Amino acid sequence: MEQIAVMTSGGDAPGMNACIRAVVRSAIYKKLKVLGVKRGYEGFAEGDIIKMDLRSVSGIINRGGTILRTVRSNKMKTEEGQKSIINAIKDNHMDGLVVIGGDGSFRAAMTLYEKNKMPIVGIAASIDNDVPGTDCTIGFDTAVNTAMDAIDKIRDTATSHERVFIVEVMGRSKGFIAVEVGLASGAEYILIPEIRYDLNEICDSLSTAHKRGKSSCIIVMAEGAGNAYAISDQIEKETGLEARVSIIGYTQRGGSPSYRSRMLASRFGQHAVDIILGMKADDAPKAVGIKDDKIVAFDMGEVLKGEKKVDKKRYELAQILSI
Ligand code: F6P
Repeated sequence: MEQIAVMTSGGDAPGMNACIRAVVRSAIYKKLKVLGVKRGYEGFAEGDIIKMDLRSVSGIINRGGTILRTVRSNKMKTEEGQKSIINAIKDNHMDGLVVIGGDGSFRAAMTLYEKNKMPIVGIAASIDNDVPGTDCTIGFDTAVNTAMDAIDKIRDTATSHERVFIVEVMGRSKGFIAVEVGLASGAEYILIPEIRYDLNEICDSLSTAHKRGKSSCIIVMAEGAGNAYAISDQIEKETGLEARVSIIGYTQRGGSPSYRSRMLASRFGQHAVDIILGMKADDAPKAVGIKDDKIVAFDMGEVLKGEKKVDKKRYELAQILSI
């Protein structure tokens, strides 16, 4: 193996740059040449590919986003897109590919392998933490910290005005961010798509708590768990309390990565290079993740068959601690 390529794909996540840096520098350390594919599978199909060296990844470990840019692309879903990408692989003499992204990016990588056998390693990066096979993805810790800071600030207004706040966090169809940040910020309720909730019961307990003198209430809601504005309206109607919605949104995707996101990114990047160096062209793609604080590599195809579940114990702990 002489040359590998690295790309970021799907939603950006804080720590992607630290991971690009780790891949590039670990690969150069192992005497490999490195290319950077720009704008995910979209740029891949257009041949938007650059040479990477030690200096091209200087000063990026602390920066959010991705210097390679990223796109949510459908190129790997079309025959034309697949052909262009395979041509780009051949024209640029790529012997291996490292894909930094979430499960959608991994699925595209699987298709690429089926059409053109080559060593491919995926690195789990997504703020949603919804990639099966790994306890944590690059960017998740930063996103949770960003949401926690925001909720701490929202709590000031909630208490001063004696209001109920419904704070919507990201997570697509999963409640990983909501559970972690709900527990860490002392939210009174956590609404996630994975666990059924009864809004009437919540309204009753909000009224009781208010009569007992409780001054504020924070409901952390995962974006996939319902409509925050409809919930806010119903709470106002049934309890007579003032309710407000705050959607934290894309601030969770940006910003300087936390210590944990940088560490994960650096360790994943180095491991991906070690793994790819030991792969033969027809070896099935692997994915790098972390299990019980050990960096591990999984069969990418197997991992994608599974579904990652939220930790119900943490959800229950948040309930116990918020009485
Ligand atoms: O990166 C994951 C995620 O942040 C989800 O939580 C969210 O639903 C989605 O991306 C929205 O991103 P986009 O606007 O890039 O599709």
